[in-house]
Amino acid sequence: MAYIQENGKKITTHSFLTKKRNSEKITVLTAYDCFTAGLLDRAGIDSILVGDSVGNVIHGFENTLPVTMDIMLAHTAAVRRGTRRALLIADMPFLSFQSSPKTAIENAGRFLKEAGAEAVKVEGGLEMTVTVKRLIECGIPVMGHIGLTPQSIHRFGGPRIQGKKDWSRSYLMESALALEEAGCFSMVLELVDTELAAEITGTLKRAATIGIGAGPGCDGQVLVINDILGLREEGFKPKFLREYANLKPAITEAVEKYIKDVREGNYPNLDESY
Ligand code: KIV
Repeated sequence: MAYIQENGKKITTHSFLTKKRNSEKITVLTAYDCFTAGLLDRAGIDSILVGDSVGNVIHGFENTLPVTMDIMLAHTAAVRRGTRRALLIADMPFLSFQSSPKTAIENAGRFLKEAGAEAVKVEGGLEMTVTVKRLIECGIPVMGHIGLTPQSIHRFGGPRIQGKKDWSRSYLMESALALEEAGCFSMVLELVDTELAAEITGTLKRAATIGIGAGPGCDGQVLVINDILGLREEGFKPKFLREYANLKPAITEAVEKYIKDVREGNYPNLDESY
């Protein structure tokens, strides 16, 4: 409790709406482990998302499809141990919620009961609103996710901007309104046309929009922690990504120095032993 007072007020799902109404931008980053979560929390981030991007950036999968509930629960529980103030959101992995509202409730419930999440994120628009409504009726806050939804990457055929065509604009606007109506406290707009993202943000009254590759007109922004720290494979540089640090050379240099010191008998010294 003392910790929370030192670092400001605990962020809740309600804080998202307050910030939207006060035109205060909402900051979200992903994290997958306890130590990194602690750093983000103490730096003052509003919310930590345990994204299924864990599949790409931690487990080395090509996409998010192989990520399981067991993987997500373990990372969410680890992040919980490092998080005090920020709102902790867990991402529902592929096929943990699509097959039926009952499956969705059982899996989402595990994030709250077993891993300490305070909300879940669900990919999908209009087609997911029945499930989203049931989750919320069960007391599980939901963040929606529309635009380019990576769990449907094979349907999209690649990371393309969404909302360029009339039918796509209508689908995204209708989806945003339906998710708000179902009770979502917020929703991610991923790779949504910049103008449309701003229009959706202005239209929604009770759900905050969190953009990624959707321009500056959203209520907040989310990025993947590894991406802003330069800890991704060579050549990964989507246009929307700003790298705030490049830790790869620093890590490589430290490891090379360690290898050299051990090989040359310079580590450990006698006073570096127990
Ligand atoms: O999995 C993830 O990290 C996400 C965010 C990038 C929105 O879905």
